[in-house]
Amino acid sequence: MTRLQTTYMGIPIANPIVVGACSMSKKIDSIKAIEDAGAGALVIKSLFEEQVHLEDAAFEQRMAQFDNPFAEAQSLFPSAEHAGPKHHLYWVARTRKETKLPLIASLNCLERETWVQYARQLEETGVDGLELNFYSPALDPKVTAAQIEASEVETLAAIRAAVRLPLSVKLHPYYTSTMNHASNLQKAGAGAFILFNRLFQPDIDVDREEKMAQRQLTLPNESLVPLRWTALLSQRIEADIIASTGLRTGKDVAKMLLVGAQAVQVVSALYAHSPSYVKILRAELLEWMDAHGYQKLEDFRGKLARRKLDDAWSFERGQYVKAILGFD
Ligand SMILES: Cc1cc2nc3c(=O)[nH]c(=O)nc-3n(C[C@H](O)[C@H](O)[C@H](O)COP(=O)(O)O)c2cc1C
Repeated sequence: MTRLQTTYMGIPIANPIVVGACSMSKKIDSIKAIEDAGAGALVIKSLFEEQVHLEDAAFEQRMAQFDNPFAEAQSLFPSAEHAGPKHHLYWVARTRKETKLPLIASLNCLERETWVQYARQLEETGVDGLELNFYSPALDPKVTAAQIEASEVETLAAIRAAVRLPLSVKLHPYYTSTMNHASNLQKAGAGAFILFNRLFQPDIDVDREEKMAQRQLTLPNESLVPLRWTALLSQRIEADIIASTGLRTGKDVAKMLLVGAQAVQVVSALYAHSPSYVKILRAELLEWMDAHGYQKLEDFRGKLARRKLDDAWSFERGQYVKAILGFD
């Protein structure tokens, strides 16, 4: 057993640095580079419902009705119109053959039937786990948050009943009660939560008065929201909490483990450097562990989460007040 060895939804992984869903998993070269650099696991880019219904006229109507709920998908995959589900499934199966890395497939659908159908097909490719990317544009003023959340839980339960794969959910940060929703998803079968999904954030160029190309890479200060929620969820939810967003250094990884993360996902750090940057992250994490006298991850995982505090609300409130009063 090596010092960084751990598990991810029960899947043994050599270290907690997992490469998140991104376009690097579209190329064998970068997959090999990620494997050679020693990543713990790789999440394959998502299959979007948009790809599934590519030539479906009814679906086009639906897209128009919702003012294009798949803008996010299109911004992430401008060439998605050329990549249907068969190609995606072929690619996942091929990736499975090309690498020994633990592989997690990723799905981002709308209709329950599509979720279940493609969860089954992705399972057949031989992947080790499946990441579910729930995202409802919620543009209908009559639809409540409770309805949307109940529907996500039911979808998860339907997928759980259909496949044996470990399931994770990539949450977005905008639920009113993330704790309640995560708890319901966990009871319905989620083995891990990835914090957080990055939603489509269009910008406007005011001089040209037009939409601007989306910035896709995150910045290091974006890790503070997942840091807080990793601390909160890891103490209360019986599922692995996987911290993601804005992690650029081995110390960033250590920070997330200190507040209870089971593992982390990184993407932007690899785009900013190279797929083999995973090796640097691993070395930096070990260096930090050496400096602090930690032999293995269990020696410090969750050390700075709020395990011993019974009154969660007053702790949370107290931290908030302290932070506000600290500013002159
Ligand atoms: C080029 C690119 C493609 C991405 N594709 C996906 C995707 O298919 N599915 C998904 O859930 N997230 C996707 N993401 C988001 C990442 O998985 C990750 O959540 C986000 O980049 C935040 O992590 P980071 O700060 O380490 O970059 C993509 C990100 C980038 C930069």
